Amino acid sequence: MSSIGPRGRKIVGIAALGLILVAVTSIAWLLLARDPEIWAPDVAASPELIPRGEYLARAADCAACHSAPGRQSFAGGLAFKLPFGTIYSTNITPDRETGIGEWSDDDFVRALHRGIAKNGMYLYPAFPYTSFSAMSREDAVAIKAYLFSLPPVHAPPRPNTLSFPFNQRWTMAFWNLVFLDARRFRNDPHLTAEQNRGAYLATALGHCGECHTPRNLAFAMSPRRQFAGAMIDGWHAYDVSSDPDFGIGAWSDRQISDFLKTGHAEGRGSAAGPMGEAIADSLRYLTSSDAAALVGYLRTVKPQPDVPGIEVRLPRIDAAYAEEPGPEDHEDSLGRRLFEANCVGCHLWNGRGRQTGYAALLGSQAVNDPHGTNLVQALLAGADLRTVDPAAFMPAFGRGFTNTEIAAMANYLIHRFGGKAGHVTADQVRRSRQDRN
Ligand code: HEC
Ligand code: HEC
Ligand code: HEC
Repeated sequence: MSSIGPRGRKIVGIAALGLILVAVTSIAWLLLARDPEIWAPDVAASPELIPRGEYLARAADCAACHSAPGRQSFAGGLAFKLPFGTIYSTNITPDRETGIGEWSDDDFVRALHRGIAKNGMYLYPAFPYTSFSAMSREDAVAIKAYLFSLPPVHAPPRPNTLSFPFNQRWTMAFWNLVFLDARRFRNDPHLTAEQNRGAYLATALGHCGECHTPRNLAFAMSPRRQFAGAMIDGWHAYDVSSDPDFGIGAWSDRQISDFLKTGHAEGRGSAAGPMGEAIADSLRYLTSSDAAALVGYLRTVKPQPDVPGIEVRLPRIDAAYAEEPGPEDHEDSLGRRLFEANCVGCHLWNGRGRQTGYAALLGSQAVNDPHGTNLVQALLAGADLRTVDPAAFMPAFGRGFTNTEIAAMANYLIHRFGGKAGHVTADQVRRSRQDRN
């Protein structure tokens, strides 16, 4: 090894200084490129502001995550199970001690736009501030006015159980530097005014991507794979890009808006699980012009390539089914017997649904996915379309049936209504039981 002379040392020194300078300038540039915080006095809640805030809070579905069983709405305490521990949502009622009663508009806006709480603590992206960052300040302030119009609830936060180093909140500052685009929504000049409104609803308020966009290794939504499909609590949030075979490109406008507003679309099946909840708590309250704007925007989301790890890459079959079981249905006799005994009453042999079309399996992705992911979840959890009157209800079958029986039923349905060979195994059903929250 040859040693470096004084001249060499000088060159290394200059090079190191240069590198540090580049690093400092790029970090400074990244920080400066972000929207500067707007400091403004609190807006007084007017009679018009509160209902507007209520509409927006619904569109953004704040209640879904900030309400837990046994607690009042917005009082927090819902568990979010992450691979490295559990965190709980917080109380966002105007309680001064345990809620956000002491927060100014600026405090609230900073939480939504930058994921930083009033006390300066960094929040975790289980709170979708990476989406809410795009929300306008006026909309955020309206939501706050609505929350502050509700009765305060005294509900202390539940302690998080994150392991080291994930319990170090300050590390989120670096995560934010790389993954948070802390800028407000900007209209895309290539889109119409209606499509831009839809984009705002889908990305800043409705946060569809939080469930439908795959995440990278650092758990950030992958912008290049928008709406390509992802897993959420053991459910598959399908590809909802404009791809005609694997996304919703072949759906009519009517089918998409019906699905979003009622949880069911003729010929496309019904929404269950997390989507059923998003519809019941949030999307069904959209005005018809906002629902139409959302549909208009979904049409513009470009088709997505395969997502590694999740393949529902077989086009769905939406042919009519026979009224009676055919000879081919005898093959999987356990599945068929169970279907006949437990399901035919509501779903009929032809899958059209008795009395109500809500139980129609025709064209449903659940029966077209050979992995049967959502089909198994729906069987374990049951389904409850609260959006229709009377509610369309399916009981949970998780308790009364073994893993082998659930797998047999799932494979039977995929065979009969999807025309495919199902790959569901008893072991997969066991894992699906564990994935449920
Ligand atoms: C997908 C779930 C989810 C949704 C939707 C959601 N939140 Fe949260 N929110 C959380 C979680 C989880 C936390 C706690 C984060 C943490 O502890 O780091 C949180 C924290 C917060 C905080 C910080 C409170 C504090 O005391 O530090 C505020 C404010 C907040 N949310 C407001 C809202 C509002 C307003 C909406 C709707 C516009 C909303 N949230 C929608 C999950 C959600
Ligand atoms: C909380 C997670 C979550 C959110 C938020 C969410 N979705 Fe979904 N979505 C799902 C899941 C899970 C499914 C599959 C439901 C099923 O199998 O019954 C789904 C299904 C769908 C489908 C049916 C797709 C098909 O092929 O059958 C459409 C369309 C859809 N979502 C659109 C949206 C839009 C638009 C938004 C935002 C306004 C949104 N979703 C927000 C989880 C979510
Ligand atoms: C009491 C009536 C009833 C019974 C019994 C019933 N279902 Fe359902 N099922 C429904 C209704 C209503 C829906 C639509 C609700 C929803 O998706 O939110 C549904 C939805 C489904 C879905 C679609 C889920 C999705 O994510 O798209 C599948 C698959 C399904 N049922 C399978 C079965 C099987 C298999 C059985 C028998 C073990 C069964 N059902 C028994 C009423 C019933």
